[in-house]
Amino acid sequence: MNLNTNLNEKKEREQWGSKIGFLLAAAGSAVGLGNIWKFPYMAGKNGGGAFVLIYFAMLIIVGFTLMMAELTIGRHTQLSPVGAYRKLKAKWAWVGSIGVLAGFIILSFYSVIGGWVIKYIVKGITGAFAGVEATAFEGIFVNFITSPAEPLIYHALFMILTLGIVFGGIKGGIEKYSKILMPALFIMMTLVMVRSMTLPGAMEGVKFMLKPDFSAISGGTILAALGQVFFSLSLGMGTMITYGSYLSKDENLVESSFQIPLIDTAVALIAGLTVLPAVFAFGFDPSGGPGLLFITLPAVFSQMPLGSIFAIIFFVLVLFAALTSSISLLEVVVSYVVDEMNWERKKASLIFGILIFLMGIPSSLGLGVWSNIKLIGGKDILDSMSFLAENVMMPLGGLLLCIFIGWVWGLDNAYKEVTNDGKVKFGLMHVWGFVIKYVAPIAIAVIFVQGVFFS
Ligand code: PHE
Repeated sequence: MNLNTNLNEKKEREQWGSKIGFLLAAAGSAVGLGNIWKFPYMAGKNGGGAFVLIYFAMLIIVGFTLMMAELTIGRHTQLSPVGAYRKLKAKWAWVGSIGVLAGFIILSFYSVIGGWVIKYIVKGITGAFAGVEATAFEGIFVNFITSPAEPLIYHALFMILTLGIVFGGIKGGIEKYSKILMPALFIMMTLVMVRSMTLPGAMEGVKFMLKPDFSAISGGTILAALGQVFFSLSLGMGTMITYGSYLSKDENLVESSFQIPLIDTAVALIAGLTVLPAVFAFGFDPSGGPGLLFITLPAVFSQMPLGSIFAIIFFVLVLFAALTSSISLLEVVVSYVVDEMNWERKKASLIFGILIFLMGIPSSLGLGVWSNIKLIGGKDILDSMSFLAENVMMPLGGLLLCIFIGWVWGLDNAYKEVTNDGKVKFGLMHVWGFVIKYVAPIAIAVIFVQGVFFS
């Protein structure tokens, strides 16, 4: 019998099994479709190096700051977002609920795209890419995503994989799989990057990533870069509060808050340096948008020596990246139901997995049979969901978190938690406090208002 059991507590909270396990799981949450699918095409569309520069600026002001803020609140309260806010200030619990809702919405369309990735692995394995004309890939992709039933089958498959992992809990599910999937991802990524960068003509793509074209920048671009930082780092909706809540009191939060964003950014850059050089080497258009990964890249692989093998490796790595993120999205929702409604984890994963699957169906159909339905600003259902989550809910959640820590819970409490009561050295502590109290909330508010209403 465990003599330490606190009788006041319903059950003992699970914890990460090891430091590296937590790091890989948190980095796994951050590294996902946002890095490999979205970052390269956003850079391609928004002036290459110029977008990368703005992204870095946002990363420094908002990324590190909020990563630390979320981990701090999570570890301090040992609760998922709603309970965490409530414990510190009851009136703020609704801010946590926005996060849970955002997790629900994001996973619904994330899983649709994750399904496409599985479909492309199947295509690769069955040799469907071999000998196909480069120009045919657009038709192949469009035919697939606009068809009513097939994408839903893959969407279901992706969701089954996701909830299968979350079923196992923190140590036996999320951590266990992150420890396998993340190292595999790094190895495969490096391999494909080297292949891409050694193609004749690839250096044009590298130059494009490094040389800023500022004429492609507008207020909308800046909001897009901010949204991208939130999305890519899994911030502003409580993922890192949730992951932080499974941390032990002697974990070094300062270190983790730098490591996770650095890994995430490295992977985004590697993805950019994989996709764009290949695109340039074969004379495709870098501003191809969301289709870059599913149209341009298969076309590139079809023309490359040993391309079909690289195509399979590449889409498998994208799947691994997507899964370590989707499990964190589901975990936000599941931990809420487990903590707040006292449900069993398995039941919560299953029921909410199914609900989120259902919620994703319109996003998928909106590309085909329901394409006449336009929601936000003429966007289809999937794009509207993604805009709502990334450009509205996440920045808003981030803004409220800054205000909460800076002005409600108070910096002194935050300093105490982040340094483990003064035991961990944190030279930039007051800079962090200043940024969270003044700089980040003002920056987020200005970019948000400007980007949503004036561009
Ligand atoms: N960060 C993930 C990605 O880049 C997506 C994500 C967003 C995951 C929010 C969790 C929470 O793909």
